[in-house]
Amino acid sequence: MDGSRPDDFNRGPGPVTVRVVRTLDEFQKIVAMRALIYMAEQDCPYDEEFDGNDLAGATHLLAEINGEPVGCMRVRWFCEFAKVERSCVRPDYRSHRIGYVMMDRAIDLIRAKGYRKVLGHAQDHLVGYWERYGLLPREDRKTFVFSERSYREVLGVFPEREDALTLDVDPLILDRPEGAWDRPGPLDRSIARGAKSGAQTQSAQSETARSKAGAGTSGAGRRKTGRKEKV
Ligand SMILES: CC(C)(COP(=O)(O)OP(=O)(O)OC[C@H]1O[C@@H](n2cnc3c(N)ncnc32)[C@H](O)[C@@H]1OP(=O)(O)O)[C@@H](O)C(=O)NCCC(=O)NCCS
Repeated sequence: MDGSRPDDFNRGPGPVTVRVVRTLDEFQKIVAMRALIYMAEQDCPYDEEFDGNDLAGATHLLAEINGEPVGCMRVRWFCEFAKVERSCVRPDYRSHRIGYVMMDRAIDLIRAKGYRKVLGHAQDHLVGYWERYGLLPREDRKTFVFSERSYREVLGVFPEREDALTLDVDPLILDRPEGAWDRPGPLDRSIARGAKSGAQTQSAQSETARSKAGAGTSGAGRRKTGRKEKV
């Protein structure tokens, strides 16, 4: 399982799957859709759409129907809050609640990581759309403009999730792939190989050090250290 979740509803063109982006191919689908929607449909210049925040500190969600990319959004992580942005659905697939499902998944993911606050920048005409998810305009903050569009800050404050990740969670759960913390990941499976003892590792290291210094044992006596240790 790769962290994707099929949705129950089937109101539109087929069942939607929303997954956390983990591969370059999935990321390419995101770029294609954002070029189509923001650059072509909304006339956004390239360097404003691809703003340097896609590969630094962001998680992307990809919505697909039968493997065809239909929508995406981005979540960025700050200390006290997460920010949802770049939400878009391909024109032919709109009004089938794909935007709704993506936002629902994003809020789910954000709360699973222990965040309670979700911030968005809502285009003026879409403030009502964001309100459906509990993100309300910040009354004390002004409207602002970028990329020739006017925005409001919208904020949702959600209850703490009981099963949210914390510092005390099992270490191997933290090491699972993003968004798939409820099922075993590659490192859980690695447990079957057992642990190399500290003594073995140390002795292998000192043997290597001795051999580098020219005082090593003969080839026949040299221990094969095998796979590199993970750090
Ligand atoms: C906004 C967007 C992601 C919604 O995706 P979606 O899958 O169609 O959303 P849903 O089906 O869950 O919800 C549809 C509802 O959203 C609201 N909505 C969507 N676009 C809207 C718009 N331009 N103006 C006002 N309301 C809008 C309406 O209430 C609509 O209901 P309706 O279909 O019954 O009229 C999609 O319209 C889109 O990609 N727009 C272009 C990119 C964009 O502007 N992103 C938002 C940045 S703040």
